[in-house]
Amino acid sequence: MRVIQTISELRQWSRLARQQGNVVGLVPTMGALHAGHISLVREAKTGCDAVAVSIFVNPTQFGPNEDLAKYPRTWDADCALLEAEGVDVVFAPMVEEVYPPGAATFVEVEGLSSRLDGQSRPGHFRGVATVVAKLFIAAEPDRAYFGQKDAAQVAVLRRMVADLGLPVQLEICPIVREPDGLAMSSRNRYLSAEERQRALVLKRALDAVAAAIAAGERDAEALQAVARASFADQPLVKIDYIAAVNWATLEPVEQVRAGDLFAVAAWVGTTRLLDNFIVSNESPQLG
Ligand code: PAJ
Repeated sequence: MRVIQTISELRQWSRLARQQGNVVGLVPTMGALHAGHISLVREAKTGCDAVAVSIFVNPTQFGPNEDLAKYPRTWDADCALLEAEGVDVVFAPMVEEVYPPGAATFVEVEGLSSRLDGQSRPGHFRGVATVVAKLFIAAEPDRAYFGQKDAAQVAVLRRMVADLGLPVQLEICPIVREPDGLAMSSRNRYLSAEERQRALVLKRALDAVAAAIAAGERDAEALQAVARASFADQPLVKIDYIAAVNWATLEPVEQVRAGDLFAVAAWVGTTRLLDNFIVSNESPQLG
């Protein structure tokens, strides 16, 4: 497995791979890898001939009072995991490689970037869109893999790819969960044992909403109330948002339909966690 730190070397690798007839896949991450990330890597290995995984804790997507400094960094363990998956390249640039001194160019996806997570994390999606655009320009992947866990991020990136006409296909992978249902996240390691238990309320709330939909309820406000009721016995968990939205625009819907996004975000102590599902006509999808 090759570790690459510069954009020019990554581009050279990708162009050579494509010249040789290979489909190039990219899996962008911030490291602290878990089974959710690895599921993306496996999809990429299945769908592509040459796979690069980027590990870059992107400073521009963190707000001034967020966890950039303490974001978990587990480089050796990450490399061991990726090596075992047969990944070809790990792209791990320094901050100055991605943001050269004086960098003044950003990608702003208007509207979507101020909804859901963007509302509580101003500037977050500007940082995400900017770094992912830079990664696409550097790696020139045919396919790039993202998790439904960050469903608003997916909407922002789909819009960006469409608006800029970027020649990359986005592949969205289902949410990987712990055995008890908690969506895997690099930030789960911040949780104390007690908080870890409390965090299960997110999935419980979504299960209750999915059950209500399965029973015929379609009214978004009623479904949000169902979710809120699940949080009632967890006063120490602070709801950030409970939202039923169109997955493409992130605009609220009044009646949920197949393909809509039902998403929750909540603070468990100082840790902000996300979970969601996509409304389905058939059996509710909590994947
Ligand atoms: P990070 O949080 O490291 O996540 C990298 C990718 O893994 C994202 O596409 C995310 O949705 C996916 N992922 C995380 N947890 C998952 C889970 N439980 N199941 C399935 N997929 C999961 O998201 C980012 O990094 C950054 O914003 C990034 C896109 C790399 C830009 O900096």
